[in-house]
Amino acid sequence: MTDLFSRKARSLTGTVRVPGDKSISHRALIMGTMAIGQSRISGLLEGEDVLNTAQAMNAMGAEITREKEGDWLVHGVGIGGLIQPEKPLDMGNSGTGARLIMGLVSSYPFQTVFTGDASLSGRPMKRVTDPLSKFGAGFSGAEGMTLPLTVTGIMDPLPIEYELPVASAQVKSAILLAALNTPGKTTVIEPTPTRDHTERMFAHFGVPIEINGKAITVTGQPDLTAREMWVPADPSSAAFPTVAALITPGSDIIIENVGMNPSRTGLYATLREMGADISFVNERLECGESVADIHVRHSKLTGITVPLGRAPSMIDEYPILCIAASFAKGDTVMRGLSELRVKESDRIAVMVSGLKACGVTVAEHEDGMTVTGSDSIKGGAQVTTHLDHRIAMSFLTLGMGTDRPVSVDDGSVIETSFPGFTALMNGLGAQIGEADQ
Ligand code: S3P
Repeated sequence: MTDLFSRKARSLTGTVRVPGDKSISHRALIMGTMAIGQSRISGLLEGEDVLNTAQAMNAMGAEITREKEGDWLVHGVGIGGLIQPEKPLDMGNSGTGARLIMGLVSSYPFQTVFTGDASLSGRPMKRVTDPLSKFGAGFSGAEGMTLPLTVTGIMDPLPIEYELPVASAQVKSAILLAALNTPGKTTVIEPTPTRDHTERMFAHFGVPIEINGKAITVTGQPDLTAREMWVPADPSSAAFPTVAALITPGSDIIIENVGMNPSRTGLYATLREMGADISFVNERLECGESVADIHVRHSKLTGITVPLGRAPSMIDEYPILCIAASFAKGDTVMRGLSELRVKESDRIAVMVSGLKACGVTVAEHEDGMTVTGSDSIKGGAQVTTHLDHRIAMSFLTLGMGTDRPVSVDDGSVIETSFPGFTALMNGLGAQIGEADQ
């Protein structure tokens, strides 16, 4: 555990590049494994979550090598070519890695055991095991269908049609990945659109995929050949320097090459509605994903009621939105977010208690929170991260604007998604350090 603190920053200035997109990085490694031949990935996130997915693919037959920072080669085995891993797959902190790979192995005739850290071991897996059982796979997990969990895949999977009860890209993707080695057409119907990186990646590799409104249909067992993949910077990671610049007077920063997939950019729309000076420059399309540089200047923010339907496009950004809201004029109302209770931590409870400890006025709701902003926030508290990277980075961002420093008990969890966070933020002008310095 590394105890980190953050104290009031002077203005943040400069141009930075945050690490690669976590969602796309997992999918790039998996799809490289599903193709025959050698795929190159540029810009891969080298965070712990993604490295665990690389190890899992390696344990099932792919050869994965790192050429240089962010540049990786995947020698794939092709659809149908996975082999049973000899040991349990340790997915660490990663819900995405665990759920996507559970889907992938469901349509292979072998057993796979999944383990994870204390946070992942408390997260619900029934949402994926329910639909995957319909393909014919079997599951046995700890109480309440949690990790450690064994998947008994099926030799002759049956294609399914499944209507998702929750808006979840992880569940949708688990089903689509199971469909890859299933003969015939599998259809998933989403209640609300969620991030569509799996669909885009399938199209990039030539998997037969049709999208009709909310229904996504994949025809299984295609032959895939290797492709080049390019991973944009993660808009969910760019959110931290963005909010830091917004709340720090005199700030003016650029974050380069950020993924602008509309299913991921809800935070930026929300911040602009709150009065944020954010512009997107140099917009372009790379490897089926839109990308832009984000220009952010310090801004006076005003609270809003975040539209309910926006949640899927910013589901990971509510913790950092709470920090922006703490400095905004009036109330920011965030509702319809019960999913936040089953993320890496219960993000509603953990944000509310951390904000209160730092002197922010906040009300907890069963499905969200209302933050009342202020010009002056006392800070001075130590916040428990509960093995949640976004909680750690959010409170370190809060400390950049509080009267007294804010500390977090465990900064090491940041490695799961944003290696180099402290150096990048300090390079812009932040003052984050190890608490015993
Ligand atoms: C992800 C989907 C989201 C998100 C997670 C990454 C993905 O989870 O919270 O960080 O890569 O598919 P849900 O789909 O469960 O909402």
